Amino acid sequence: MRIDIITALPDLLKSPFEISILKKSIDLKIVDLHIHNLRDYSNDNYKTIDDNQFGGGAGMVMMVEPIDKCISKLKNERHYDEIIYLSPDGEKLNQKLSNKLSLLKNIIILCGHYKGVDQRVRDHLITKEISIGDYVLTGGELAAAVLCDSIIRLIPGVLGNETSALTDSFQDDLLAPPIYTRPREYKGWEVPSLLLTGNFPKIEKWREDKALEATLKKRPDLID
Ligand code: ADE
Repeated sequence: MRIDIITALPDLLKSPFEISILKKSIDLKIVDLHIHNLRDYSNDNYKTIDDNQFGGGAGMVMMVEPIDKCISKLKNERHYDEIIYLSPDGEKLNQKLSNKLSLLKNIIILCGHYKGVDQRVRDHLITKEISIGDYVLTGGELAAAVLCDSIIRLIPGVLGNETSALTDSFQDDLLAPPIYTRPREYKGWEVPSLLLTGNFPKIEKWREDKALEATLKKRPDLID
């Protein structure tokens, strides 16, 4: 999968891709990541990318031209399946959407800043708007890192154990069951004895029951 991220703050996006699973996905060439500094597409020597709002009002607005120049250049080079704008008023990200996006070949992610982007960017250049939750971040970069992480870990070959993404919380609309590791007992806190029996059909059934129980207790809205 090729991911092009357009941002005014490229440094903010460096470290998430330099360690762990995201780095591995790039090293294995499963993900081809390109980060573009929006200021490189500015029209002036000051590398301006924002301006005051027409009609007055607090906060700067990201201008249409640098964004259009960057997206147009990329679109001239290849087809993009989605051009995503990260914004708190977009469609709420969930596991289902991450699954869908993980199947795409080429995507562009535009990170907003300041007050946001000129509406004409959203009307004419963007194909999908995504929010990572009902709160406002300073910019879209951290949201882009969250979005990329949730997508990339689902691409086959990225996680060592292929089944581990399938047993994540939300993957089947259920939360994950409790998990334990050594020691069997710590400060008198014991691991459920069934997990030590090696009776795998029974353990599987226990996990299903616990997943349902956790979902009913913590997120009943996930169950119809
Ligand atoms: N930019 C600012 N806040 C955001 C949010 N909650 N989701 C996505 N992008 C954002």
